[in-house]
Amino acid sequence: MEDELGKRTRLALQITRTESIADGIQLFELRAADGGTLPPFTPGSHLNIRVPNGSFRNYSLCNNPMDGDRYVIAVKREVGGRGGSISLIDNARAGDVLEVKAPDNLFELDLSAPRYVFVAGGIGITPILSMIRFVNATSDKPWDLYYLTRSPEGTAFLDEIRGMAGPGRTVTIHHDHGVREAAFDLWPVFEEPSKAHVYCCGPRPLMDAVRDMTGHWPLHAVHFEDFGSDLVRPKADDVPFTVCLVKSHKSFEVPVGVTILEVLRNHGIDAPSSCESGTCGTCRTTFLSGEVDHRDLVLDENERKKNIMICISRGRGKIEIDR
Ligand code: FES
Repeated sequence: MEDELGKRTRLALQITRTESIADGIQLFELRAADGGTLPPFTPGSHLNIRVPNGSFRNYSLCNNPMDGDRYVIAVKREVGGRGGSISLIDNARAGDVLEVKAPDNLFELDLSAPRYVFVAGGIGITPILSMIRFVNATSDKPWDLYYLTRSPEGTAFLDEIRGMAGPGRTVTIHHDHGVREAAFDLWPVFEEPSKAHVYCCGPRPLMDAVRDMTGHWPLHAVHFEDFGSDLVRPKADDVPFTVCLVKSHKSFEVPVGVTILEVLRNHGIDAPSSCESGTCGTCRTTFLSGEVDHRDLVLDENERKKNIMICISRGRGKIEIDR
């Protein structure tokens, strides 16, 4: 839902329930303060939420899109991440009001597909659970779910998902206990292409593996979602740098663990964004000089000569951007 300026509508939503649903995973239910209906969403959608420390983070919706009056997210407390999930889990309580942008979808479920293969790694189950809830509520379509996690204790929605299997619908849950050799072998799933559409959400190594294994599948039938991937984590050798906004004659320091986008916002400068993980292309900005450390999955080598994705990429020393 966008306003006349092409920006997503901002909502003030109350946390009406919060619950620990697995080790390090917290569920939040959000509703309008008056309990009224909310902007609709489709399976695979996410919310952009301002967490208590002031930064914005994307979280996939995990409830059924047919729920008209609530949004539900499940958040993993990412130690070593950028601090958004820790801020939300540690500091947001039932009754608090959060600033939220209306749902957006970068991981659309193709409703014309005759069958689905879902692959979820860890907290990547959230958009996929919304998809399954929707498919089950609206059709008899078959699907297969592969839900890969480290341990039963850290697996969200475990009992509910186990109970979703039925005729034509299979659930495979695998725990690797952090042992690489114990990883689930997905090759038998993808060896023979089918008419199914594949939806994969999880850590970067899992998505890379599925991407490699589906190279012989039709491109339009394989879909990925990238929130919370390792891409957005600070790297050990990150250093602060300076970003200069040439048109507005402003310069800011970008500390370690903070993105250019966040620095701009902290100074009251609005910039378009959506995924905030370097995958959607929304925050593309022209850069004019300096050395950029590109970390996105959007720009090709040629485009990188003049563009930077300010939600994720960094600079070295000083960079100038066209703002
Ligand atoms: Fe999606 Fe930056 S907001 S690439």
